Amino acid sequence: MKVVVAGIGYVGLVTGVCLAEKGHNVICVDINTDKIEMMKNGKSPIYEPGIEELMNKNYKNKRLNYSNDYKKEYKDADVIIIAVGTPEKNDGSANLDYVYEVVKQIASNVNKDCIVVIKSTVPIGTNDEIEKYLNENKKSNCKIEVVSNPEFLSQGTAIKDTMNASRIVIGTESENAKKMMKQLYKNFDIPILFMKRRSSEMVKYASNDFLALKISYMNDIANLCEIVGANIDEVTNGMSYDQRIGNKFLKVGCGYGGSCFPKDTKALYYLAKRQGYDLKSIEATIIINKKQKMVLLEKAKKKFKTFKEINVAILGIAFKPNTDDLRDAPALDNINLLLKEKAKIKVFDPKAIANLKKIYSTNIEYVNTPQKAIHNADVCFIFTEWNQVKEVKPIEYYREMRNAVVYDGRNIYDIKEMKKNGVEYYSIGR
Ligand code: UDX
Ligand code: UDX
Repeated sequence: MKVVVAGIGYVGLVTGVCLAEKGHNVICVDINTDKIEMMKNGKSPIYEPGIEELMNKNYKNKRLNYSNDYKKEYKDADVIIIAVGTPEKNDGSANLDYVYEVVKQIASNVNKDCIVVIKSTVPIGTNDEIEKYLNENKKSNCKIEVVSNPEFLSQGTAIKDTMNASRIVIGTESENAKKMMKQLYKNFDIPILFMKRRSSEMVKYASNDFLALKISYMNDIANLCEIVGANIDEVTNGMSYDQRIGNKFLKVGCGYGGSCFPKDTKALYYLAKRQGYDLKSIEATIIINKKQKMVLLEKAKKKFKTFKEINVAILGIAFKPNTDDLRDAPALDNINLLLKEKAKIKVFDPKAIANLKKIYSTNIEYVNTPQKAIHNADVCFIFTEWNQVKEVKPIEYYREMRNAVVYDGRNIYDIKEMKKNGVEYYSIGR
């Protein structure tokens, strides 16, 4: 079976590479010619642990290829997987322009019966609309069926998450499409859940939004812990022994970021609103996170009335470790504010500096070790729990900084240890 993946982002690339690794012939197509060139030269356009190795192995054994020529590739494909981005629009709704761009290309070029798999996160009902569009606009007489197949991978562990997913959710009621999807995933030892398309679309939003809600709930409780004198680490530990609560996604911090939680919470809230339903739980999740992203600066503002001419060290800017992704990263909102106040900023991040340079070419000093960032600093903010950051010893803050004041958005350090080493230390919920 010929599998074509449209859109080489985090989701498309990982999906294509993993399907090739499991034995399929896969072509990854993208409109971006630079990306295709880069991949043919053995380089991944994104940072994701392990991806280049698998890319190059399967490119060499000819199970994986890359192309800009979507017309040629769609023509005789058996399965076309759409994995282009669905960023948020100004009003919070999902932007489906890229998805429809690909859908139009498919309608004009497909020349063989095929199934179109929607992996991009799309609002409930979109799969139905796409199938209708394809049937009304296809240029050939072939049969095209649309299947919803949301993705649950996390950046940084994307390959493992795909190869050992907790479940494969497939939205289709067609027997033919079910057969094709079973064939696509035949070498994956993962439970497959078939359901109607709208349920499948909802599983994706409901799962992501639930995880975001879990984080916002814990952050809310953490803020209350500070007020009432409890310690969130102890509280979380105490909660996590209850298997109904579980022990994952309870970690408090300076808010969630990334390409999914921020946009998927807003998209579902907006979608509900358009249907006349007020999704209060998700509205609260969004409001809490917006505030939480600024919690470190809010605390620091009590000590520093202004950041003018203050030497600020920033450790970690990616929205989480093991990625170079800055989409909705809490660090960005904070950097904006610090720059506005004319702070002198030094930033350390092991992977995301190149992406930050695309946003701020001047006014920020970029360094390649945490020690260089904290050297002579008056204050340090930690936004991402990279290993390189965790390895900085409490005494190093004391030795390197002009004034050892640390605001930690990821609760990396033991409070007593920091105090013992002469560091004025603020964290979250403790
Ligand atoms: C993915 C999903 O698809 C999105 O719905 C989900 O919610 C988050 O993860 P991501 O992989 O992050 O998005 O997308 P992105 O990094 O934006 O990559 C999309 C790729 O598609 C880009 O390489 C872009 O060049 C390509 N593209 C876009 C096309 O090939 N054709 C188009 O018409 C538009
Ligand atoms: C998420 C989902 O986990 C994944 O299933 C979906 O397919 C895409 O969106 P991702 O955004 O890559 O994946 O990362 P994730 O590890 O979920 O982290 C998202 C954000 O939440 C990060 O900013 C992280 O720091 C934050 N987070 C996560 C917390 O603040 N606390 C936690 O306990 C977990």
